[in-house]
Amino acid sequence: MADTMMALRSHRRGGPETLVYESAPVPVAALGEVLIEVHAAAITPAELGWDETWRSEDGSDRTPTIPSHEVSGVVVGLGEGVDRFSIGDQVYGRIGFNRDGAAAEYAAVPVSDLALRPLSVSHVESATLPLAALTAWQALADHARLQPGEHVVVLGGAGGVGAFAVQLARYFGAAVSSTARGADLDFVLAIGADVALDYTNANDNNVLDQADVVIDAVGGPTSERAVRLVRAGGRLVTFSQPVDAALTGDRDLQTFFFIVEANEAELSAIASLVDSGALRPTVARVYGLPEGRAAYAESSVLHGPGKTVLAVRDEHGNLYAEERLPQPAI
Ligand SMILES: NC(=O)c1ccc[n+]([C@@H]2O[C@H](COP(=O)([O-])OP(=O)(O)OC[C@H]3O[C@@H](n4cnc5c(N)ncnc54)[C@H](OP(=O)(O)O)[C@@H]3O)[C@@H](O)[C@H]2O)c1
Repeated sequence: MADTMMALRSHRRGGPETLVYESAPVPVAALGEVLIEVHAAAITPAELGWDETWRSEDGSDRTPTIPSHEVSGVVVGLGEGVDRFSIGDQVYGRIGFNRDGAAAEYAAVPVSDLALRPLSVSHVESATLPLAALTAWQALADHARLQPGEHVVVLGGAGGVGAFAVQLARYFGAAVSSTARGADLDFVLAIGADVALDYTNANDNNVLDQADVVIDAVGGPTSERAVRLVRAGGRLVTFSQPVDAALTGDRDLQTFFFIVEANEAELSAIASLVDSGALRPTVARVYGLPEGRAAYAESSVLHGPGKTVLAVRDEHGNLYAEERLPQPAI
């Protein structure tokens, strides 16, 4: 294997304008890590704004940094102490934000971040899952401890995380209401919402019933509404920022804020749900790795359900030429 690869990197803190497609060293799988031949990597639009993207845990600068922390690919190298995976395994996973991501031809990833991927979908589709679906799973199951028959409101149900929150809430036996922009209402109904409301329509804005559980999959402008929608004694889960105590006041509700954590058992359960047809990945747009800067720039401003994905290799392991990129299913 060559010592260098092509990767999307940033040499200074900033937005999409700092990303360059360039040669970089092929990473080495350290103790407990595997080297993955990247087939697809998904984008979280907000990640370039997060401190972890730019600094290591000890606070030191870690530029140049490689973004995109959801990967689907094939194991091509084993670090010391790895016995959970073998060469050739098809894996997917959420890569910690304080290390290099998968916008590259190869990525070194701790085995604790990985599971065998769902084989009924393409690598492009399976790359949309690990961070977003794990976040939705942990919000509903680990933090809200959702019970069958409860009513869940998902704010932002057409987003990367929100679309999985709607589907998983439904799968866990809840009644689901969701907000989305008008053009995405049919989408959130199709993936399992019982009620869908247009957040851009002021007339629609106050007609949702209060819920046992509110999942705020937007954050910022929706915080106040999220608090108002929780019934007395209910739970509010956020993952974009903690709920401001000034908003909750003396209201009777529990609030949870969390950062998604690696969880191999949950990732495996998500893969099984996809293979059984109970959970559907949604690809918003597909870009080639050389177009990574445009992918980041456009994913922050373009609308439409699902996640933006960088397609790196085809099913035979060949690097994609731009004109052959797979397109999302309509
Ligand atoms: N803590 C963690 O571990 C963790 C993990 C993943 C994500 N996050 C955070 O979670 C948030 C969502 O991430 P994501 O990747 O799902 O983002 P995303 O794909 O951009 O989804 C956000 C969704 O919210 C919708 N939206 C925007 N304003 C809204 C409003 N006022 N009311 C209702 N919906 C609205 C957007 O629709 P439009 O198309 O209309 O804009 C979009 O569908 C981000 O803040 C991200 O940083 C945190």
